[in-house]
Amino acid sequence: MKILFVGDIDGRPGRNVFTSSLPELNAKHTPDFVVVNCENAAAGKGMTDTVFSQLLEAGAHGMTSGNHIWDKNIFYPTLRGDARVIRPANYPPICPGFGYTVIERNGARLGLLNLQGRVFMPPIDCPFRAADAALADLAEKEAANLPILVDFHAEATSEKKALAIYLDGRVSAVVGTHTHVQTADEQVLPGGTAFISDVGMTGGHGGIIGVATETVLPRYLTGLPAKFEVCDTDVRLNAVIIETDDETARAVNITRVQMP
Ligand SMILES: [Fe+2]
Ligand SMILES: [Fe+2]
Repeated sequence: MKILFVGDIDGRPGRNVFTSSLPELNAKHTPDFVVVNCENAAAGKGMTDTVFSQLLEAGAHGMTSGNHIWDKNIFYPTLRGDARVIRPANYPPICPGFGYTVIERNGARLGLLNLQGRVFMPPIDCPFRAADAALADLAEKEAANLPILVDFHAEATSEKKALAIYLDGRVSAVVGTHTHVQTADEQVLPGGTAFISDVGMTGGHGGIIGVATETVLPRYLTGLPAKFEVCDTDVRLNAVIIETDDETARAVNITRVQMP
């Protein structure tokens, strides 16, 4: 199985480059599933139903997210009702939405689990124990060789690698998101779990991690709050392709993708 996982889609520039690049990526890599991180897809903050439809129509089969998924509460009913989009599983259970799901396409099934880190991030439940609980539930309901992709939305490289090692051999891939900067440490761990600290960001790379420089820099210079605007220069798609063995669901390969 081949999975194309696209890093945080940031606002309209990100949606546009995803939509325009996907036909070429599909032709070149023939992924069975296309999964995107959508936490910044609507104007850099959260999601809307319109953007959800746009991303599905463009060719996304499943969506993961992160801390920004909560920014637009008009999207909460969809989070509650449609398991093609998930939010980090380790938010308190009272929060709307699913933390993990199984998506299906042409008879193939792919498990998706979304977790969020706790280092330099808001204090929420333990992602390690949330992973154990989610995997136990999936093991009860699904085939033993279900491929599972984990999007670990986290700040610290150490926490990301720790979770990947903790889950090595139990999931097909642990891919990091949230920093918006693609790292060069892609690898398949000894147990067969593909890993990268951060997939990067799909959007404007000309500013500061997807935000226009003129709306970020003053905050550093003055300490005063500022309204962030999405960057629309140097627009690029950041992604990874993960290949798994159909018999064992172990990862065979992980490759970084950068498209202008
Ligand atoms: Fe993000
Ligand atoms: Fe984030």
